[in-house]
Amino acid sequence: MAEFDLPRSWFLIVVTWLVMMTGSYWLGVYTVNYGLDDRRIRHGRSVSLVQKVQGGPIEKSAESPPQRKQMMKVVPPPDGPWRGDNEWRNQHFKTADDIRKYINTVFKLDRDIVSFSNFEHDTEKCHKHGEPYTECRGDTPVVRQKSCAIVGSSGIVRNSSCGREIDQHDFVLRFNFAPLEEFKDDVGTKVDLVVLGTYKLHIYTNSFAPDAEDKKKKEALSVKVQGKDEILTRLRQFNNTIIFYPKPLYDLELGVASGPSLRLEDLLQILDDHQLRATMTYNLVTLKDLTVEMLQKLYPDAEAPSVGVIAYLLALTFCDQLDLYGFYPLDFDPWNRTVRFHYHDDPLPGHGLFPKPHHYNTEYEFMRELDAKGVLTYHIDKCI
Ligand SMILES: *[C@@H]1O[C@H](CO)[C@@H](O)[C@H](O)[C@H]1NC(C)=O
Ligand SMILES: *[C@@H]1O[C@H](CO)[C@@H](O)[C@H](O)[C@H]1NC(C)=O
Ligand SMILES: *[C@@H]1O[C@H](CO)[C@@H](O)[C@H](O)[C@H]1NC(C)=O
Repeated sequence: MAEFDLPRSWFLIVVTWLVMMTGSYWLGVYTVNYGLDDRRIRHGRSVSLVQKVQGGPIEKSAESPPQRKQMMKVVPPPDGPWRGDNEWRNQHFKTADDIRKYINTVFKLDRDIVSFSNFEHDTEKCHKHGEPYTECRGDTPVVRQKSCAIVGSSGIVRNSSCGREIDQHDFVLRFNFAPLEEFKDDVGTKVDLVVLGTYKLHIYTNSFAPDAEDKKKKEALSVKVQGKDEILTRLRQFNNTIIFYPKPLYDLELGVASGPSLRLEDLLQILDDHQLRATMTYNLVTLKDLTVEMLQKLYPDAEAPSVGVIAYLLALTFCDQLDLYGFYPLDFDPWNRTVRFHYHDDPLPGHGLFPKPHHYNTEYEFMRELDAKGVLTYHIDKCI
């Protein structure tokens, strides 16, 4: 009998192997078709960009996206400073003016907050050019302002009564459509620009996606969805604002648009369907790389900058006077009371996905230093 068992186990092994290979093939097909950032494979726009710019085969790059090369090498500047070298910093960034001048050499409004309506034209031009960081340009809807308030979503603004003071600024920047009406005494209602993160963009566009696709995405990536009414109530508080997506939308070296560009179009469609207006903007380069390089000189202790830091440094390039509210990265306030992560109850971008970074302490120190030098005014106290 033993002579017959051997071929039978080989047969079982071969069948098992075949089943596994077929399974992983279909899993691969599923991922390619339904992965969040791979919708470009089935849509025309970025494909045509690749064709025009590189003339290369499209499907190949779609199936195995090449690794994105580091656009800008982050190396310590040759003339210092090194971590802890405060002498160098104090010498180069003695005054608020020194610091603002330096920030203005790094950020360029007409490259870093540009209108999404010219996306194809601007990114293609930028990609073709050999020196994207110096020559990339687009149209910016942002103009110079006398006074700006930038309102983070930290629980530190709860019970602050700063709403009126915030609304008195010429230009108000906020984040992620954080609710205004229910908290207007503390955060105000005026808004001119809202910085939009990837997490919120995904929740909002998934929530309005057609059912079938929505379900698949939820299952594949367990991205949360929210009720449409809830989202619309929120979006109505942000009618006629500039929406700014600060993450890369386009790979300059590969000449490929990424999934979020289609999601921005989806969001514009959602707004349009509900009689809401917005000027969608994005950046032509990688703001995070620029900010990391900038911080190596300004504040070498700071590591990966949060979107909040990127936003207020950018705001310094067009705001004569800048007030920060609702920025508080620590768990306890100066009176040792617990500070909520958000002033509102939105789902945290977390639950294991994005743990609170450990370098938040340095962000706090950095804001205090900018305040002490008069670059901006950092508010954590009550107003009145
Ligand atoms: C705000 O003030 C109210 C009333 O004084 C108090 O009950 C509440 O706990 C405070 N909330 C926060 C987050 O400090
Ligand atoms: C948004 O603003 C536009 C232009 O001011 C206006 O026509 C539209 O009715 C507003 N939408 C809503 C829902 O209030
Ligand atoms: C602040 O509060 C925490 C717990 O709420 C406590 O462990 C800590 O000792 C307090 N710190 C000070 C300086 O009072």
